[in-house]
Amino acid sequence: MDPKERIYELRELLHRHNYNYYIKNAPEISDMEFDALMRELQDLEAQYPQYDDENSPTRRVGSDLTKEFVQVAHKYPMLSLGNTYSKGEVADFYERVKRALNDDFEICCELKFDGTSISLTYVDGELVRAVTRGDGEKGDDVTANVKTIRSIPLRLSGSGYPREFEIRGEVLMPWAVFEELNRERAERDEPLFANPRNAASGTLKLQDSSVVAKRKLDAFLYYMLGEELPADGHYENLQKANEWGFKISDTTRKCRTLDEVYQFIDHFDTARKSLPYATDGVVLKVNSIIQQRNLGYTSKSPRWAIAYKFQAERALTRLNEVTYQVGRTGVVTPVANLDPVQLSGTIVKRASLHNADIIEKLDLHIADMVYVEKGGEIIPKITGVDTDARFLLGEKVSFPTKCPVCGAALVRSEGEAAHYCPNYSQCPPQIKGRIEHFVSREAMNIESIGPETIELLYNYGLIKNISDLYTLEACDLLFLPRMGAKSAENIVSGIKESLNVPFERVLFALGIRYVGATVAKRLTRAFVTIEALMAADVQALTAVDEIGERIAGSVVDFFAREDNRNLVAALQAAGVRFVVDDEVVEGRTDKLLGKSIVISGVFEKHSRDEYKAMIEKHGGKNVGSVSKATTFILAGANMGPSKLEKAQKLGVQLVSEEEFLNMLQE
Ligand code: IVH
Repeated sequence: MDPKERIYELRELLHRHNYNYYIKNAPEISDMEFDALMRELQDLEAQYPQYDDENSPTRRVGSDLTKEFVQVAHKYPMLSLGNTYSKGEVADFYERVKRALNDDFEICCELKFDGTSISLTYVDGELVRAVTRGDGEKGDDVTANVKTIRSIPLRLSGSGYPREFEIRGEVLMPWAVFEELNRERAERDEPLFANPRNAASGTLKLQDSSVVAKRKLDAFLYYMLGEELPADGHYENLQKANEWGFKISDTTRKCRTLDEVYQFIDHFDTARKSLPYATDGVVLKVNSIIQQRNLGYTSKSPRWAIAYKFQAERALTRLNEVTYQVGRTGVVTPVANLDPVQLSGTIVKRASLHNADIIEKLDLHIADMVYVEKGGEIIPKITGVDTDARFLLGEKVSFPTKCPVCGAALVRSEGEAAHYCPNYSQCPPQIKGRIEHFVSREAMNIESIGPETIELLYNYGLIKNISDLYTLEACDLLFLPRMGAKSAENIVSGIKESLNVPFERVLFALGIRYVGATVAKRLTRAFVTIEALMAADVQALTAVDEIGERIAGSVVDFFAREDNRNLVAALQAAGVRFVVDDEVVEGRTDKLLGKSIVISGVFEKHSRDEYKAMIEKHGGKNVGSVSKATTFILAGANMGPSKLEKAQKLGVQLVSEEEFLNMLQE
């Protein structure tokens, strides 16, 4: 695949998985898979700097921000850690540190607690604020909830603590509390928490702190920050923190050699299974704070620390049945239904089988004893079959040839692993899936409608496709089960409000394959109206910056269908917006078309953001770092020395504020 297209595809994917993980609390892939995608993107971006984007997921960490809490800026950003999965990668880290420091150093080995991170600020020995990680720059102020956690001191004991400092750590829900909570929830028919991490983060975000208090959260602290810390050693600071009343894990060890680090890892790979709380790895930190400072940070994580993730746990259980799910794009996913089995602290009953090739490779038979793993402890998958234990009469699992819901013959495109149901316009799960996507937060954001409501509306024949949403009236809804007048009103007013959603999100909401939020934005900026977009052929589409053949082909195919054109017409008639807002269009030119521009330094006439907007408005592209592909640097005062040096080396032109504004005037 074209590297440029792959870069955009990876960005869309990672944005989506970030959202699933941090906002929806419902990840679809394991941490390991996520990291692999992230690494692929990092490598490609390093190789092809011309496709730089400062909003790339590689430039930021995920976010747990929610609108219910007051947001507070972190004094020091809350970064994440680089992940490793093998001792080889740990050795690489160790060698990197050794080379960079060129001096003796100690590594502090700690458990990686699997909860939700928190930053606590103490002033004059009193807890004044507790903030979640949020997007790393700012987090949610959850002080009232944190005050209910008994292991977090509200007032410090002893003496010698700095007047003001921050201490960070992990809020956890111990296994026993988690299991009890899920038992109670099961009795009340409430949805269960998938793991203690979700339970801890969900609890910390409750509105009622008296409920939080009942949930018996716990916390370990592992990182002290401030201007006047007691010692140069990270470990030594934590021991002090312990004297002041903080809960510090007694499993932490200082190591002087790589071998000692390995011993720590090996010991806890087994020992962690009998700990009362969940852990998912080990964190290795250079102990001296002076050395930490020398090593510094990348944009996302410290160079002085790294996480080593434990191998996923494995369990053996019986395969009872394979069922098939049809998604909104028609992809058919096989799901294994298993005898319930305990795995990494949760009970597993279902596992994804991904596609027909995997079923074939495993030579899967019903009643087989199968190995289940939780990669990164999230969605379990089947990784092997115990063929010695094969039940002889078990039928071989074969992928269906027809859609399990609508009966249409399935198709499989050349070179693709997935089977699709081609019955785009009639297959119920595809229709419902498209409606779910349409109302989702990043699309039309119709909060009053969730999957259950869509199911009801569809099953009762009130909606047959997306545009039918706009014909609904509150009185139509009242006869639905469990529907009150208030909910009915909410649904209708939510739909009405969506008429204000801008064109770029409407285009994304249509659910065209490969058209994610960023691509939708580019397309709407380039074509301005839906009519122009619908009239565009592959050539016109690929002329737009960052639109490749695959996306172009998908857009053309989408609008070639009569049902899709009818859908657009019906939505237009309902008042949905299919034209870019005037303020976005006004004053647009092509003056900077095809130019990659880096902004650097301090400006007098406009802010950086304003310059960024100007570049985009005139067809240019604002990129983060200087490379061969940079057209020029919009240079203010005090431009960073490294950028300046690079610009000189590559011969990239510097353009002043005045020159830039003149350029746009001409
Ligand atoms: S240190 C700058 N130590 O892992 C480094 N983090 O991916 C700050 N975590 O967000 C983090 N146990 O929520 C550190 N012993 C430990 C940890 C730990 C768990 C979590 C933490 C952080 C994430 C990093």
